[in-house]
Amino acid sequence: MKNLPLLFMGIFFCLAFSFSGLILSSMIQYGHLEPVTEFVNHPDTGEQIPGAFIEIGDKLVQGVNQPDEQTFPIESVGLAQQGKQTYINMGCLYCHSQQVRRKGFGADYERGWGDRQTVPRDYILQQRVLLGTSRTGPDLMSIGMRQPSAEWHYLHLYNPQFTSPGSIMPPFRFLFETRKIGDAPSPDALKIPDGFPAEKPPAGYEIVPTDRGRELVAYLLSLKLNYELPESRFSE
Ligand code: HEC
Repeated sequence: MKNLPLLFMGIFFCLAFSFSGLILSSMIQYGHLEPVTEFVNHPDTGEQIPGAFIEIGDKLVQGVNQPDEQTFPIESVGLAQQGKQTYINMGCLYCHSQQVRRKGFGADYERGWGDRQTVPRDYILQQRVLLGTSRTGPDLMSIGMRQPSAEWHYLHLYNPQFTSPGSIMPPFRFLFETRKIGDAPSPDALKIPDGFPAEKPPAGYEIVPTDRGRELVAYLLSLKLNYELPESRFSE
């Protein structure tokens, strides 16, 4: 072992090289990114005001009434935050990505997956970023905008065939329970479509989402690419 110091130096340089390539260079490129306040043009005066795009009815309106200090991206909290863990545990990320390519690159824009490309700043508040590598199903970065109905999501998770005939997505029935109807039916009991008589619960019973099911849907509804960033504007 006369070359021991050389061996150690080799190991040291290998580690130092990969550390600077993978960690240091990412820190230098992205470490300084912070949430930003978005400015939009006031619809009447044309003046620049802080705000986002908000939904009123089925229309997207520039959010004149947003609190002044609203910054983007928005951190997901509460139920939605817990639902993210379920999303990871259920392996949704193996079939669904959360990253949108810009208009003209692939068909993400045409498919309605997002009006702008996602950039590193979109993910800075996330402890674990779920970019995904495979797109067996559609991208979910903005699913809360595309499909804002919790009822739709419950039906789809219980049996994807209800909402999307021919779907190859697996059902996630264990996120639901069949239970006796109490004094009155639950507001979020599934309304099984008429074409599926065998799926209906027995008389006097109802199918309702479990806590995990509710959290997962809260998470899906929170996924919205409805704000602009200085480095990524909505496509024209
Ligand atoms: C085996 C791959 C696979 C897995 C795992 C999977 N999905 Fe899907 N998913 C699909 C496919 C394929 C579609 C498109 C057909 C459809 O709408 O069912 C889809 C569609 C969807 C849609 C509707 C998207 C749209 O644009 O309409 C949502 C929401 C969704 N999946 C959520 C989930 C969630 C949440 C999980 C985990 C609990 C999950 N998926 C797990 C394959 C998968």
